Amino acid sequence: MGKLSGKVAIVTGAAMGNGEGMARVMARHGAHVALWDRSDSVFATARAMQDEGLSAKPYKVDVTRFEACCEATDAILQANGRIDILCNNAGVARLANFLEMDDNLRDFHFSVNIIGGWNATKAVLPSMKARRYGKIVNMSSVTGPMVVDEGMSAYATSKAAIIGFTKALARDMAKYGINVNAICPGYILTPMVEHTARESNPSDPQRVIAGIAAGVPLGRLGTPAEIGELAAFLASDEASYITGTQIVIDGGSTLPETMTVGA
Ligand SMILES: NC(=O)c1ccc[n+]([C@@H]2O[C@H](COP(=O)([O-])OP(=O)(O)OC[C@H]3O[C@@H](n4cnc5c(N)ncnc54)[C@H](O)[C@@H]3O)[C@@H](O)[C@H]2O)c1
Repeated sequence: MGKLSGKVAIVTGAAMGNGEGMARVMARHGAHVALWDRSDSVFATARAMQDEGLSAKPYKVDVTRFEACCEATDAILQANGRIDILCNNAGVARLANFLEMDDNLRDFHFSVNIIGGWNATKAVLPSMKARRYGKIVNMSSVTGPMVVDEGMSAYATSKAAIIGFTKALARDMAKYGINVNAICPGYILTPMVEHTARESNPSDPQRVIAGIAAGVPLGRLGTPAEIGELAAFLASDEASYITGTQIVIDGGSTLPETMTVGA
């Protein structure tokens, strides 16, 4: 029996990266996972999971569209009768110095990273409230709440907002038996980080990745599966007394007091 045996979970942005990691790990722990993504590659990801014997169902959903979130929620409730877990993971990151950050790029971050999770939560919560049971896991970052690099004003702002959202939602939903928590990853090797590395150094993105790894006390980037294990724990009844908090998962990258890492 897995820790999520029989639970019905939604993971947004599940076609790749951290979302795929969460979906796979939760399914391995026994959950039936609905994979939401705006990309068609969500169908191939779900099929690959099914081929491994995991319970996965793809939904093409752009979380910036509230109606799309409601339609997918209704379909899942029809098929499964309930939703136990919502992982608000879908997110975007583009680098631009604040003075070059035009309003469209700013709004792109805010609409996916902040409003997207808001929409999915608004769609799913009424059914959780009615059952007085639910686990919401929001994807923040160390970027924004704790640290930041150049060019990340919109991304950092959006990720810090998710912490405020998590706390406020946890406070409002506590009386309905719904736990709400946030995950703050450091660098995890996903298509997003590969994209950011290409933006930083188009001719040698691997050099950027190696540079990141060198700055992490554990000496490497994290994996989506490691994010998945933390999300599965927070979504399980083992974490029943944890709500309104944020958990850092960064290989120690926010620890160093000086620029020199290691011996
Ligand atoms: N990779 C990291 O180092 C890192 C660190 C901290 C936080 N995060 C967060 O983890 C989450 C996932 O990041 P990742 O690195 O896996 O990114 P990724 O780009 O590899 O994957 C993101 C997924 O989200 C989907 N998506 C984007 N916009 C969407 C929308 N409007 N509706 C539905 N799906 C949408 C994409 O299609 C993609 O499948 C993000 O919220 C990101 O901010 C990542």
